[in-house]
Amino acid sequence: MFSKKLISWYHQNKRDLPWRHTRNPYKIWLSEIILQQTRVEQGLPYYEKFVSTFPNVVSLAKAKEDEVLKLWQGLGYYSRARNLHHAAKSVANDFKGKFPSEYKDILSLKGVGEYTAAAIASFSYDLPYPVLDGNVFRVISRIYGFHEAIDSPAGKKKFIEHLQTLIPHDDAASFNQAIMEFGAMHCTPKNPNCVNCIFKSQCYAAKNDKVDLLPIKEKKIIKRDRYFYYTVSIDSKKNILIQKRKGKDIWEGMYEFPNIESPVKLDNPIKELSINKKDLLSFTEIQKHLLTHQNIYFSFYVVKGEPSSKKELWVSAEKLMEYPVPKIIQDFIHKKLNLYLPHK
Ligand code: ADE
Repeated sequence: MFSKKLISWYHQNKRDLPWRHTRNPYKIWLSEIILQQTRVEQGLPYYEKFVSTFPNVVSLAKAKEDEVLKLWQGLGYYSRARNLHHAAKSVANDFKGKFPSEYKDILSLKGVGEYTAAAIASFSYDLPYPVLDGNVFRVISRIYGFHEAIDSPAGKKKFIEHLQTLIPHDDAASFNQAIMEFGAMHCTPKNPNCVNCIFKSQCYAAKNDKVDLLPIKEKKIIKRDRYFYYTVSIDSKKNILIQKRKGKDIWEGMYEFPNIESPVKLDNPIKELSINKKDLLSFTEIQKHLLTHQNIYFSFYVVKGEPSSKKELWVSAEKLMEYPVPKIIQDFIHKKLNLYLPHK
């Protein structure tokens, strides 16, 4: 009964989204990776760009990593883009270019966890694997009064087992889309529409005044502070010094200005950056960029400089636009750097 009511609600209330008109596993995978940690409105244009630039998984596999990162630019959580590219190459090489259709093979792709594998398996192939994301945890915990922590293995097991009893084997795709849509549009984290809810007579949380208490999480996210101080060197030809970011860390493989990083605010960044005061053209106030597990604080110091080694990467303003850079750097280039550069 729950599933029938839910699916009928979905057919009447669903948003018209492009990935809901296809069973193509490549496109569904792409949409699900884009929509991780991203709102639908923000993800939509990226989905369109990716589908038109790379119409199939083999074309994505053949792309250069810089090209993939450039297209992803602005969406954040860039490991998704690197994993996407890696997985496309696995499909091209290990699966002869055909997207796998078995759950365990889908799950073996880089960046594809249980949620994404279940989404692809159900939306593309109608396999009855329940999806379990934040929306689903919320809907189930409230309606059924589950108090197990959603970030504990035991909690996850309880939710999955319950979903397995609910998911219809003849329409797994609609059920999974429906429960996520219901969580996203109706049973929202704040101010859910309980008054007009189709489940109000059976919802544990609504009846027991626990809507704001469910779902329950065990761990609080501990956030790390990171301060980035960038040196933006511009030479007499108006070229700018950049470098490629290395190591397993945020923005891996993207380009940036040379910088120093600190876990605390620096008292004298000019000194720490070894900037000669006479070369300093300007600097920005510290700004904030908040990620799920990190608070990024950053500022830019624009200086006059000259190349000192062949290994350095100095690029014109025009060329700079072709490199994938983090959003904070893109914003700086657009808003501030233009002041110092030749206009066309
Ligand atoms: N978020 C994650 N997957 C989604 C989907 N298929 N439709 C809408 N929002 C989503």
